[in-house]
Amino acid sequence: MARPTQAIINLQHLRDNYQLAKGNSKLAYAVVKANAYGHGLVPVAQALSAADGFAVACIEEAIQLRESGITQAILVLGGGIDRSEWEAALKHDLEMVLHHSHQLATLTTDSRFGQLKLWLKIDTGMNRLGFRTAEAEETFKQCRQAGLNIKAIMTHFACADDLEKSKTKDQFDAFKRIYEQQLLHWPDLTLSSNNSAAVLSSENVNDHISRPGIMLYGSSPYISQSTTDRHFRSALKPVMTLKSKIVSTHWVNPGEGVGYGETQIVSQPTRVGIVAIGYGDGYPRSAPTGTPVWCNGQRLTVLGRVSMDMLCVDITDNSEGELANIEVGSEVELWGENINANEIADLCGTISYELFCQLTPRVKRVYINQ
Ligand SMILES: Cc1ncc(COP(=O)(O)O)c(C=O)c1O
Repeated sequence: MARPTQAIINLQHLRDNYQLAKGNSKLAYAVVKANAYGHGLVPVAQALSAADGFAVACIEEAIQLRESGITQAILVLGGGIDRSEWEAALKHDLEMVLHHSHQLATLTTDSRFGQLKLWLKIDTGMNRLGFRTAEAEETFKQCRQAGLNIKAIMTHFACADDLEKSKTKDQFDAFKRIYEQQLLHWPDLTLSSNNSAAVLSSENVNDHISRPGIMLYGSSPYISQSTTDRHFRSALKPVMTLKSKIVSTHWVNPGEGVGYGETQIVSQPTRVGIVAIGYGDGYPRSAPTGTPVWCNGQRLTVLGRVSMDMLCVDITDNSEGELANIEVGSEVELWGENINANEIADLCGTISYELFCQLTPRVKRVYINQ
């Protein structure tokens, strides 16, 4: 019998979320880096046959997509690290981000690199990758002189997920000014700025090629508990449902502890269900007692520390004795259709992005609605 711990990936929900993401943008490149945020790079890309393109973090991910038969545009967000990666981009017809002068130095050494479709990245405040706004004009000039082909000017917002305090609109306006100045020299230049949070607030910011990531997987990108977050939590359809089963049940007496470190001493007779999932599967060890799970139409809670291969849940019904319909073999949802991944992430001091990405290969991905 196979281990009952599975991530059910609903590909129709993925496609529906992509349509929502496309929103006001003319084109949308689906961000599928990091194994499609843990959902499975190739199956996700294959399901998104309507996507205008894909964005990945590195060359290896891009080549994996090409070798699996993906023919749409593929953008490598990190660009090339060394000459061999620029060569690989030529070979596999990849679009590449150009964010640093060391890359420009390599690109100017060989006229063949003029065939590449480059995305010139401007740093509008993240202070991570990209040319500073003040360097933009000179960088574009060098690209022109070197015969390079700049397809798009792009930026990545630092605070698009927290609109109340964000400077996103100001950053976009400054970025757009650079774009407009460059149109004189690059009439076909396109503009790309929007991650999920900016896509969802697109009344403020309109670009030509958006780059939605987390929203494709049905999770809100907004700071949790904000009004915007609550709104989009209901509009997006969860793609991953992480589930397992109860493999043991028993009673614990008052005064006894549950799990490593006896962090949870029960004060009354408590019926405990053991679920076959733990941090070895990527379920966060930081999930505290009280973290919700879903079983047979009810919210139950985690009890004591999460172990490597299992966790304990309280299946006592305080008023009636034990919960009648929970037994060995009962299915438990950790997050997905009934428990929002952001709720778990909040309790663990993280974001749903990390929960999804850290699921380990031991969790079988099962694809539905191909
Ligand atoms: C450059 C870039 N664009 C777009 C995205 C997608 O962001 P999100 O998942 O918040 O939509 C990312 C993700 O980190 C990114 O690094």
